[in-house]
Amino acid sequence: MNQIQKDNQEPVDVVIMAAGKGTRMKSSLPKVLHRLGGRALVAHVIDTVADIGARHVVVVTGHGATDVETALEGAVAGVTPQFARQVPQLGTGHAVQQAAPFLPDDGTVLVLSGDVPLISGDTLRALVAESAGRRLALLTIQVDDPKGYGRIVRVQGQQDAEGEVQSIVEEKDANEAQRAIREIYSGVMAVPARLLKTWLARLDNRNAQGEYYLTDIVGFAVVDGVPVVAHRTDDALQVAGVNSPAQLAALERAHQLRQAHALMAQGVRLADPARFDLRGTLVCESDVEIDVNCVFEGAVSLGADVHIGANCVIANARIETGAVIHPFTHIDGEKAGVTVGAGALVGPFARLRPGARLGAEVHIGNFVEVKNSTLAAGAKANHLAYLGDATVGQRVNYGAGSITANYDGANKHRTIIGDDVHVGSNCVLVAPITIGAGGTIGGGSTITKSTEPGALTISRAKQASFANWQRPQKAPKA
Ligand code: UD1
Ligand code: MG
Repeated sequence: MNQIQKDNQEPVDVVIMAAGKGTRMKSSLPKVLHRLGGRALVAHVIDTVADIGARHVVVVTGHGATDVETALEGAVAGVTPQFARQVPQLGTGHAVQQAAPFLPDDGTVLVLSGDVPLISGDTLRALVAESAGRRLALLTIQVDDPKGYGRIVRVQGQQDAEGEVQSIVEEKDANEAQRAIREIYSGVMAVPARLLKTWLARLDNRNAQGEYYLTDIVGFAVVDGVPVVAHRTDDALQVAGVNSPAQLAALERAHQLRQAHALMAQGVRLADPARFDLRGTLVCESDVEIDVNCVFEGAVSLGADVHIGANCVIANARIETGAVIHPFTHIDGEKAGVTVGAGALVGPFARLRPGARLGAEVHIGNFVEVKNSTLAAGAKANHLAYLGDATVGQRVNYGAGSITANYDGANKHRTIIGDDVHVGSNCVLVAPITIGAGGTIGGGSTITKSTEPGALTISRAKQASFANWQRPQKAPKA
């Protein structure tokens, strides 16, 4: 039994409203699929729901329903969302009505919005605890500018946290006095399912917007003598919704700043927390330094004393102790991953692609691309080179401008370079091929046959000189 169930004795079922159009995004992508920190807005909500251990997760879909449903299948480990289609969208009350058949009577229902991504598990647990199987618990917040939000109306003359909640009045239905109220409904509530269902059946759309308002259930609770509790948060970020590109960008920055500060609290030294982006997970050991404008994506881990230069993009990679990634390096391990060994030096302007495995003290310099290749300890490729589908031995020196010709137009082949090989500049190693340990490849060679250990191999034309060579002359003008 998970934590939330232990505390409350009641299973928690979640409804995530995600059917709205998101008109103000002016986008063909459904609003809840826009990304915050590299992850769809609604996926953040499901992550949190997974964290609190919900029983059923019902996502109400409408606009772009197929896209949203496809995006969410398998998006969060351990959660199999159910989808309730809402067509047309007649309001938040109507949205929850569509979800009702999926909600057993014995549970507490948490109502969330797919476009409010940063709600925390602790806040949801607290709200469920307030509901306690018998109350309607609303998450509210005091704001400076309440425009557009539902106002929390308390008993007359007691518009403070002490007064009992009477109703929620939507902006468009509010009178002047109500509009002055600065405590607003966040859009998040916890309510016993059996009560919710009786109230949903009583909703109507006689209001300024002609919609079925979920918020009208507050009035029903008061009439039925069910206690209504307003649980106030002071964390505006947790209840911030996304309605426009500007709001999305603002929330992204706030989210990034929060992540940056969390890392700094662990000891990570960020040159500037305002110029740091994490779109995934970043695990850092001690004394990591990260310069400005770096982007981390997917799962990245950095060992102790790793330094990341300015303007690097690093995705799905493990960087071991003491390695230095110089500025403007692009690393993306995608599914296969990338590993950079202890003490390795990479960049500036290097590119590590999926399956790049660099051993300890490897050097990868500017304009070097490495894909699906293993470089053993101490190997170096310092300038303008390509290593694809290669196995490179220890201490190999791979010259400037050299490449593995790993692709014959149909298939990929491997290049094996033994320990202590020296590949000169501007060589083409045509795979499949093996360069024997300790061998030397003369600069400018195109190597098509495997070479013996210790051998010097040169395939370029022999140099010839012609003394006192007279270049052709232009014929004198007539
Ligand atoms: C709602 C609340 C308001 C609260 C505000 C907080 C109601 C009537 N009002 O207002 O009190 O202050 O949220 O942000 O609930 N949705 C559907 N189907 C629909 C309508 C909406 O799925 O038919 C979804 C939207 O996609 C969105 C969420 O429900 O994710 C909230 O809808 P929205 O239109 O933003 O509600 P507000 O009018 O802002
Ligand atoms: Mg809204």
